[in-house]
Amino acid sequence: GNYDGPYRPQIHFSPPQNFMNDPNGLLRDRNGTYHLYYQYNPTDLVAGNQHWGHATSGDLYHWVNQPIAIFPPNNDSQVFSGSAVIDVNNTSGFFPDQDDGVVAIYTLNTPTAQVQEIAYSTDGGYTFTRYPGNPVIDSNSTQFRDPKVIWYEDHWAMVVAYSQDFVIGVYTSPDLKTWSHASNFTHHGLLGLQYECPNLVKMPVEGGNDTMYVLTISINPGAPLGGSITQYFPGTFNGTHFTPVDGAARITDFAKDNYAGQFFYGIPDGEDALSIAWSSNWQYAQNVPTAAEGWRSSMSVPRRNLLTDTAPTGWDLVSLPYDLSPVLGDQLAARDNLGNGVLDVNYSTVASNALYFEANVTGLTGVSSAATINFTFSNPESGESIRGGYFFGGDFWLDRGRIQGFDNPFFTDKFSVSSPLRADGTWTLSGVIDRSILEVFVDRGAHSATSTFYATQPLTSFTLSTAGLPDAASVSVVVYALKSVWE
Ligand code: FRU
Repeated sequence: GNYDGPYRPQIHFSPPQNFMNDPNGLLRDRNGTYHLYYQYNPTDLVAGNQHWGHATSGDLYHWVNQPIAIFPPNNDSQVFSGSAVIDVNNTSGFFPDQDDGVVAIYTLNTPTAQVQEIAYSTDGGYTFTRYPGNPVIDSNSTQFRDPKVIWYEDHWAMVVAYSQDFVIGVYTSPDLKTWSHASNFTHHGLLGLQYECPNLVKMPVEGGNDTMYVLTISINPGAPLGGSITQYFPGTFNGTHFTPVDGAARITDFAKDNYAGQFFYGIPDGEDALSIAWSSNWQYAQNVPTAAEGWRSSMSVPRRNLLTDTAPTGWDLVSLPYDLSPVLGDQLAARDNLGNGVLDVNYSTVASNALYFEANVTGLTGVSSAATINFTFSNPESGESIRGGYFFGGDFWLDRGRIQGFDNPFFTDKFSVSSPLRADGTWTLSGVIDRSILEVFVDRGAHSATSTFYATQPLTSFTLSTAGLPDAASVSVVVYALKSVWE
């Protein structure tokens, strides 16, 4: 693949060429190598001929493209989304002489059915053999897909979507081959028109040793902002049944480019849950102008996730970029206290055209909502910009409407989220901008937005400003160049 194009993200994963959608089979193996499989059409710039593409990484940023891992068995079928596990104890019997066998569990899509299949790898997840006893679950349905498997105490547990029935089925298995239906989680939260890509994951609760489970359900089409989005339910899981803490629907991202996120298998208990999502939206994923560069869609940055109990809404998913140090480059600017001021950074000489920035604000107790923090990434010649800002104590907003390179009715301009002030009077903002994708993390990751944008000219100027803050407030800001992982 050629990773030079002006839209090509430099620290985000994108396929060497052609079309990518959902992350699949996310796995940390026993040597610490991360495996990213993904929905991949190697023969076109739109979805269709779905395979499992594959890449590996030691740090979740520097990816090595690997040969396609799973191929459809014939021209009439596609390998759809699913997950992968390490069968350390050889429960499956596929791995008599090893403790690092990988089993992939995925949907085979055919004109007459969607069934769950498995394939196993004795070489650490690079090449797979289809299990001759497939399918392992056949529910006599054309809309039954996206199995995600975890290990629970003494058995395997799968969540899988009966997409158009708005049902997430829970199945259990001793050996990954024989599956028993255990429970259904039905008609919860937002329905959209389909449930897809469920995930069940154990994650830490902020400030202590507790853990909880989170069930995510992606919906498409029919998201509140149009197209696709992912919702989540904090709760408990007893090995067969998931019980949410309440009836609320919560959304993982407040913009439009975060879908089908998957959590890594193989992360030890006590560590933050790790995830990667597809950074696009089915409303326009197959139309974005990156086709001119021979590829379509990137992933989000890897995220670390935990739960926090925040007034007034209760359990909230906190997501922040996973340790960025492998890609952090030169510090371009730093201010201990910006006051009510302006920071300008010209980054036209940064080869990657990618930046990380962070603003930490303290002393906000009693601040007026007339106080603001705003930022803009722009190109001075074309006048294009992507901007965001916050009315302290009120709403945070993002606006990609001044970007000219993609004209599409569903490529919505503006997004916002309420960000109440914490009792301790602090507030933070961080962001990664990477050629055609901006991710922002508001209030220590309590809210995040993933937003693609397609400017006609590279954005080269960053401005951050604050106004109306009281003397007691302090604003520290730091801006780093990011180093391309593709060089
Ligand atoms: C979600 C999805 C899945 C399906 C895959 C096909 O984006 O529609 O439900 O398995 O994509 O590529």
